[in-house]
Order: sequence, then C-alpha cells, then structure tokens
Amino acid sequence: MEIFDILAVVGVLICFLLLRCWDQIRKLDADKVNWPIVGMLPRLLVNSSNVYEYTTRTLRNNGGTSKFKGPWFANMDFVITSDPRNVHHILSDNFANYPKGPVYKKIFEPLGDGILNSDSESWRAQRKMIQLFMKNNKYKELVEKNILQKLVQGLFPILDHVSRKEEIVDMQDVIQRFMYDSNCMSVLGFDPNCLTIEFPEVAHAKAFDIMEEAVFYRHIVPEFYWKFQKWLQIGEEKKLSRALQTFDQFMYKCISTRCEQVLNNIVEEKEAAGFDLLTAYIKVQMKEHGNSAASSNKFLRDTATNLLVAGRDTPSAGLVWFFWLVAEHPLVESKILEEKDGKLRVFSAEEVNGLVYLHAAMCETLRLYPSVHTNHKAAVEEDTLPSGHRVRRKMQVLISFYSMGRMEAIWGKDCLEFKPERWISDKGGIIHVPPYKFAAFNDGPRTCLGKDVSFIQMKMVACAVLWNYHVQVVEDHQVFPSVAVVLHMKNGLRVRITKRC
Ligand code: HEM
Repeated sequence: MEIFDILAVVGVLICFLLLRCWDQIRKLDADKVNWPIVGMLPRLLVNSSNVYEYTTRTLRNNGGTSKFKGPWFANMDFVITSDPRNVHHILSDNFANYPKGPVYKKIFEPLGDGILNSDSESWRAQRKMIQLFMKNNKYKELVEKNILQKLVQGLFPILDHVSRKEEIVDMQDVIQRFMYDSNCMSVLGFDPNCLTIEFPEVAHAKAFDIMEEAVFYRHIVPEFYWKFQKWLQIGEEKKLSRALQTFDQFMYKCISTRCEQVLNNIVEEKEAAGFDLLTAYIKVQMKEHGNSAASSNKFLRDTATNLLVAGRDTPSAGLVWFFWLVAEHPLVESKILEEKDGKLRVFSAEEVNGLVYLHAAMCETLRLYPSVHTNHKAAVEEDTLPSGHRVRRKMQVLISFYSMGRMEAIWGKDCLEFKPERWISDKGGIIHVPPYKFAAFNDGPRTCLGKDVSFIQMKMVACAVLWNYHVQVVEDHQVFPSVAVVLHMKNGLRVRITKRC
C-alpha cells in the first residue's frame, strides 16, 4: 500500500470519528462527547475546577447514571451513579462483586493494608476488631474526655484571643488542628498540640496533608504517569515519598514507645482514665504473637494510620461546612441556640445527644456537603445495574454521594436548600432516611464505623462554639469545595469571631 493510501484511510477514519462527535454535540449532549483517542477527558478537565457540579449536572441529565470513557489504553473508563437503586445494589445486595479493587489499593498506597484499603478476609477481620474496640464504653469516654480537654485548653483560648484582637481566623485550619490533636489522643494516646495560638507547623501533621494531596493527584493523572514520576522521584511523587518517610518515622516512634510502656506496665495508670486504640491493639498483638511481635509491626502502623485518616478529616470537613451554612442562615442559628439553655460553656456527650434540631442541621450539612464525596468500587464480574447499565469485568464504578444530596428525585424540589426541618418528624424526632438515599456514612457491610462517635464529636464542638461565640464569615470570602479526596473548602473559611455575653 502506498503512503497516500494509508493517509487517505487515516483521513477517512478521523473524519468518521469527528462526525460521530459532531453528531453528539448537535444533540446538545456536550457533557458526554466521546472524542477519538482522548475520550471524555477534555470535558472533565475543562470542568475540573468544579467537578462536583459537573458530575451532578451530568447525572441529572442522564437519569442518575452515566458512563465515562477515558483516553484509549489509560484504563480510566468508569460508570458513575447517584441512583439509590444502584447504590443499594453496589453497596449491599451485590456487595461481593464490588470490592475496592487493585486500582484503589495502588492509589491509596500510604494507607498500607489498613481497613480503608483492604478487601475480603483482611477487611473482615480488621472490621470485627475495630468494631469491638469502638463499642467499648471506655473508648467513647476517652473521645468525650479528649474533646472536652481540647475545647477548654485549645479552642477557647484561640477564639477568645481572635475575638479580643478582632482578628480574622481560618476556621478550617482551626478545626482541622482540633481534630488532628483530639484524634491523635484517642488513637495514639499522644497530644501533638497543633492547636495553639502560634499555629505551629508540626512535621507529621504537614506530612499527613501532603500524603492526602498526592493521593488525590494519583486520581486525576493516568497510572503510568504517576508511576513514572515515582520511579524518577520527581514532582508530587517525590513529595509523597518524603512525607511518607516523615509520617512513618513518627508512627513507628509512637508504636515503639507505647510497646515499651505496655511491657513495663507504665500504661496501667493511664488506663484508669481511659485507653487509646494503639495500646489496645498492642495488647492484643502481644497476647497473640508474643511480647516482641508488636514494636516494629507494620500492621500497627497501618491500623493507626487508617484510624487517623478516617477520623480526622471527615468530621472536621463536616463541621466547617456546618459553621458556614449556619452563618449564612441566621434563622437556623437562632433555632439551634433556642434548643438549649446556654449558661454552660461546654456540653457533655449526653447533653448534646438530645438536641434534635442540632442533629438535623448536621445531617442536612452532610447531605449537601458529604465529607466523603465519592465512593470507589471495581466490579469483579460483569454485572447489570438496576438502572439497566452494563458494568464490564474489572470496570471502575463510582458513587457520587455529593450528587445524591442534590437530586430532586431523592429530596424533592427544594433539594438545594439548607433546611434542617426536613429531618424532623411531626412527633419531633429525627426521620430515618435509608442509607442508600442518605449515604454520607456509606451503606451495607462497609458502613462507617465512626458514625455515632463523629456525631457526638461534631455536636460537642458545634455547641461549644455556637453557644459561646458568634461566627461571621468575612465579606466577599469565596466559599467553594476543593477538588480533593475529602470535601474541604478551597480557600478555607475566613471568619470573625465575637464572644457572646
Ligand atoms: C462526619 C464524619 C464521618 C463521615 C462522613 C464518614 C464517612 C465514611 C464513609 C463514606 C466510609 C466508607 C468509605 C469507603 O468505603 O471508602 C467510612 C468508613 C469508615 N469510617 Fe467513617 N466517616 C466519618 C467519621 C468517622 C470517624 C470519626 C471514624 C473513627 C474514628 C470513622 C471510621 C471509619 C472506618 C473505620 C471506616 C471503614 C469501614 C469499613 O471499611 O468497613 N469514620 N466513613
């Protein structure tokens, strides 16, 4: 064949593909245009600054489920859904067919073999053990004690200070520091003191943030690209390697110190006042594998890291969106304040438990701004979703919790409004919404294990802040979600704080 013949064939092929795309554009289905070679990636990149709204619009226009075609050979094709029937099918009814899968595991490498990153037997065994610890009253008491301590010794001094000096403060930074400290106290039995008036840069906390950013980066570039960067040790991958080193050094030090304390019975005294999860795990490890087994244990490192990841960012992101929504809705704020006699400075877990309107406002926040905005699965075998969409073997399946909260079909015409009242029944209790409709805490066998404890944490912090201070968002401060693994605010939340009389 002559070179001109080849060029002619290629030309005809390109024209054919372009005509196919043009046909789709003419049908005004611009969000679904599947270009030759690059697939739908250009559209995704154009919308990358607000990928959540783009996803929601696409799902709304396609009855709740849509297919994404990635570039050729990039292994980026996936099905995305917000349809409760599909959600229930994937997370519950056909759970065994939808593990997290190998792609997820590679991306979330810093989590090691911890619960968030494992499937099958390893996941089952870890879940059983964490469940056992979390049901323990000692754990709940410990979380409550740590929150109260951080409120009094960390948060109040900072809010008093910025209120007195009339300074602007980033509430997102404050709450993240709060949760990192209190979470380290519950998981590792150690307070890193990130929440002080100096806003110190703590190396392992910073490494934790970098790890999160790098993991997100791996989501948006093709696998071969980040692997190549990792091999060359450049860009985001270089940052990740360094952050991992810093973080692991910190973790293994905590583990070895605690192991020594357990061996020398030093923690017994501490235990009288509560216990931390690391100590509880070390004791089990030592019992099962002998005293020397625990100190350099990767299992302990992975477990503690997963518990820190699960417990820091999710409640803190939820709380920051809550403070913003309440500041924007003064009527909601006054209803929250009306619910409780505000003479106390802090409230116990038991006291916040009975606050129905506050609970409704928290659920409403997580409906519109679920901390985990998307859930990833990979099909083991070929399947057909209840919506009729075919899922190929090994195909990625995404559930958009963010879009689910904004679907008229689930929440009605006022789905975009912030209305805590929608959660309250005529009898004044909280309405139960099935988890396949309100999936902020996931559904099925992998439902969040920290749901109850995080409601307690969030309500205790919310009460302590709202009853003692008025939070006002700085004029012209632009609030929108960052494109990241957890739904944070891109520019933080810059506020003025006024102490209530
Ligand atoms: C507002 C707060 C929280 C939200 C919205 C939330 C949400 C979620 C979601 C969506 C999952 C499923 C993730 C997945 O399968 O990829 C999950 C899993 C999990 N969460 Fe939470 N979470 C919150 C707080 C917490 C807290 C405070 C803890 C405990 C310290 C915790 C512990 C866990 C654990 C251990 C899992 C893994 C469950 C499993 O795979 O079997 N979560 N959470």
